[in-house]
This record gives sequence, C-alpha cells and structure tokens, in this order.
Amino acid sequence: MTSPSETPLALLGPARLIPLLIIETVEDAVPLARTLVEAGLPTMEIALRTKAAPHAIRNILREVPGAVPAAGNVMTPHDLAIARDVGARFALSPGHSHALLEAATQHPDMPFVPGIATPSELMAVMSAGFHVVKFFPGATFGGPATLRAMAAPFPHVRFCPTGGTSEADLEDWLSQPNVIAVGGSWLAPIEEIRARQWTRIGDRARAAVAKYIAHRRTP
Ligand code: 3PG
Repeated sequence: MTSPSETPLALLGPARLIPLLIIETVEDAVPLARTLVEAGLPTMEIALRTKAAPHAIRNILREVPGAVPAAGNVMTPHDLAIARDVGARFALSPGHSHALLEAATQHPDMPFVPGIATPSELMAVMSAGFHVVKFFPGATFGGPATLRAMAAPFPHVRFCPTGGTSEADLEDWLSQPNVIAVGGSWLAPIEEIRARQWTRIGDRARAAVAKYIAHRRTP
C-alpha cells in the first residue's frame, strides 16, 4: 500500500537512475530486481508491455526488500488500475490523455508521472496538477538541450528523461538542475534479461552508480 505522503519527487529524487525493465518471463523478475537493489538501484520501472509485468511487480514487492517497483508504459485508466492492484509504488507513462490524467487524479494514493515531449503537452499536464513528468522520447526530442531551454519558462517542473538515453549522455542529463532522474533500458537490456545475465547487469549498474550517482545522492 502506497503511503499518501509519497510523491513523485520523493520517489524519483533519491533514485536518479531508473532501469526500464521489459520482463517477459515472470521468474526473471525477482533475481533481476535483487541484482539491481544490490547494485544500488532500488527504483525500477517495469513496463506494462508484457503479460508477465503485473505479476513481476507483485513478486518483486513480496520478495525483494528495498525494491521500489513502478509500473511503466501506463496508457489507460485500466493500466493504472492494474498498477494499483499489484501495488506498484508509482506509475509512469510515455504520454498522457485526459482520461489518464483524470484517473490518476482520482487516486492520489499512487503517484503518477505523465509523459510529455513539447511545451504545449507540458502545459496540459501542468493544468491537471502534474509537475513531475517523463520527457519522452528525450534523446530524439532534443536531448538535454531541450530541458535547458524548458527551464526558463517552466522553472518548477522536474523531468525524468527516457527514450534513447545512454551512458554516454548520462552526465549531461544529470547535470541539468531540472532533471530529477534518468530512465533507460540500457541498464538492463532485454537480451541480457532473456539470457539471465544477472552478473553482467549488476556490474554495469554498480559501475553507473559509482560513476554518476553516488556523489549526487544526499547522505
Ligand atoms: C520505453 O518506454 O520503452 C523507454 O522509455 C524507452 O527507453 P529506451 O530508449 O531506454 O529503451
């Protein structure tokens, strides 16, 4: 059960780096989540893009202490209801619709991070009360330079860029004051999940935490 005091800022802020996980086989969920938690990345987005995803979230919550699983790829109020049913700590979407924003507003017990790509889309979600947003697909829509430009007209908005992010541009994203966290599948590529390469995934995550994240977290 999500505490109402949790907000997207409180949930995303300490994470800084959020692996986007495509879990096709439910048995992979727990070892994968355990690997990421042990590597220092407890917050993870499980895309509701596979049949296994809802069960994966439920199993992670039950079996991996410290994990903060979020539901990603949330497109409809129905997806949001699934995310709530399985206990996702929060939900994210690559975009938004009126129906989705309204459903999220009606259930503030599960924080919701809508997606935007342009200033007008941002203004639409802001008018519905959302000020922490996904910037998707961030790399294609101008990368960190776009968020530098957005900072002036939208000083209070915080962004979580995803979509085409990579280790190469991580430093640039994270150094933007309006970037609260960066999401990406490169931390746990689907081929490595399929091959159950937990050591490889863990080593990469640990290295990324040490290089880009550890010094940015408040003690
Ligand atoms: C998604 O929803 O698929 C991701 O945001 C895409 O990110 P990626 O470019 O890191 O795979």
